[in-house]
Amino acid sequence: MATGVASQKALPAASALPLVGKWANIFKISNEPCTYSRWLYDTYGSIVSLAPGDPSWVVAFGSEFNFQLLSQPALFELRKGKILNVPEGTSLRRLFITNLLDMNGEHHKQQRQLMQPAFHKKQIGLYHNDMVAITQQMLERWQPHEQIELHAEMKKLTQRIVIKTLFGLNDEQEIDRIGTLFDKVATLFLPMMLTPNIDVPGLPYHRILKLADQLDGFTRAMIARKRQETEASDVLAALVQAHDEEGTKLSDDELIGHVFTLYGAGHTTTSSALTWALFLLHQHPRIHADVLAELDGVLHGAAPSLESLRQLPLLDGVIKETLRLLPPAPISMRTAAEACELGGYALPKGATIFFSPFMTHRLPELYEEPNRFKPERWATLSRTPYEYLPFSAGVHRCLGAEFAQLEIKVVLATMLQRYRLALVPNTNVEPKGSDMDPAHGMPMRVMPQDRQFARVPIRGKIQNIVDFV
Ligand code: HEM
Repeated sequence: MATGVASQKALPAASALPLVGKWANIFKISNEPCTYSRWLYDTYGSIVSLAPGDPSWVVAFGSEFNFQLLSQPALFELRKGKILNVPEGTSLRRLFITNLLDMNGEHHKQQRQLMQPAFHKKQIGLYHNDMVAITQQMLERWQPHEQIELHAEMKKLTQRIVIKTLFGLNDEQEIDRIGTLFDKVATLFLPMMLTPNIDVPGLPYHRILKLADQLDGFTRAMIARKRQETEASDVLAALVQAHDEEGTKLSDDELIGHVFTLYGAGHTTTSSALTWALFLLHQHPRIHADVLAELDGVLHGAAPSLESLRQLPLLDGVIKETLRLLPPAPISMRTAAEACELGGYALPKGATIFFSPFMTHRLPELYEEPNRFKPERWATLSRTPYEYLPFSAGVHRCLGAEFAQLEIKVVLATMLQRYRLALVPNTNVEPKGSDMDPAHGMPMRVMPQDRQFARVPIRGKIQNIVDFV
């Protein structure tokens, strides 16, 4: 229970150097969420603080703690935006502060309810044709036998899909121009935190504001356009139309923040999932062959329709298994709104608690042979939302989960039928950081789909977290 009498025994604590130790450990869990989580769990068990004698930064592992942290949103809150020191009324503040992942309680509930219709299953079906078309455009550009940097390609692809489905733009160059602008602003987070807020030409903060103003202006113009277009079927059009029973709609400022978050949340995670799915398939030739046989049997070389995508259980299993083994969001955190108790230990108000979908997915009591890629396990396996949580659980569960799963399926079904991607032998493979990007890239050769599936020798830390047998 998260409340009740806390035990007097000391919380197990990771060793830490004096002064910097806690911060070094916080950095480690963000930068190496898989290997460091694994080490913490193996060394200290299911709950551990990141510095001796300091219960204000804690890591809690396993489905029972996931349940406690995610099913009590009033006690365990999301607190990201509070660290931002951005002046009120600026475009920067509108872009970075107004988003579901910075909201709690009634405010979050009201905003999420307004956004939900844009992500209903029926509405997501409307984005399917765009997903297919943009994937096919990418495949047209690839040349047989050329070497590509797969992760960069997947990032570009998911960027195009998210911009296209958000705004309904048709011109490819415009999609890329807007994608670049979004990317530039998204990477401003760190400089923005480190730069004094002095808005004078020539200083970094001025440049940051100018970029944010451009994006704010573009999104505002798109909102005005969507208010005129009654037939549009993109995400922004659905958000603009959305209203509650009292007729309350999302304001322009709210829409701007939400659109920016949808861009960020919507493409880096999905590109990571695609890259890892293609890597895991490559290193498991029998499964790769079986997936292609399934695609042949259902699609016969055609583009995947919504109906046909429902008939691909093995591909479903590949996606579920990729998100289990290498979840694009391997750790998350919550903040204690009150002094409380967790696992029998007293935590102060304001304590930050990390939880780890990655480690939960590796527990042998939940998953047999947890480090192996076994998509077929999902034919019979069913797990609770706290035992399998690549999209988190509870009130902040990913709003785009169905969108992402459809997108991953469309891309894989379209790509695998046409090409066999061959990993460059001896590549150093390592998932890194809180978004699981491959640290050294993922170089692949684009081969015609000749069904000559074969794994290659690899190097790198991936071998410590996935068993290739
Ligand atoms: C494989 C792809 C994706 C993964 C693994 C993923 C994962 C997650 C996770 C773990 C959270 C919750 C974080 C927490 O509880 O602390 C989340 C929230 C969210 N995601 Fe995703 N996501 C993916 C794709 C998408 C896409 C495609 C969109 C939109 C187009 C999206 C939009 C959102 C939004 C708006 C939230 C905030 C929900 C809320 O706070 O109520 N995500 N996502």
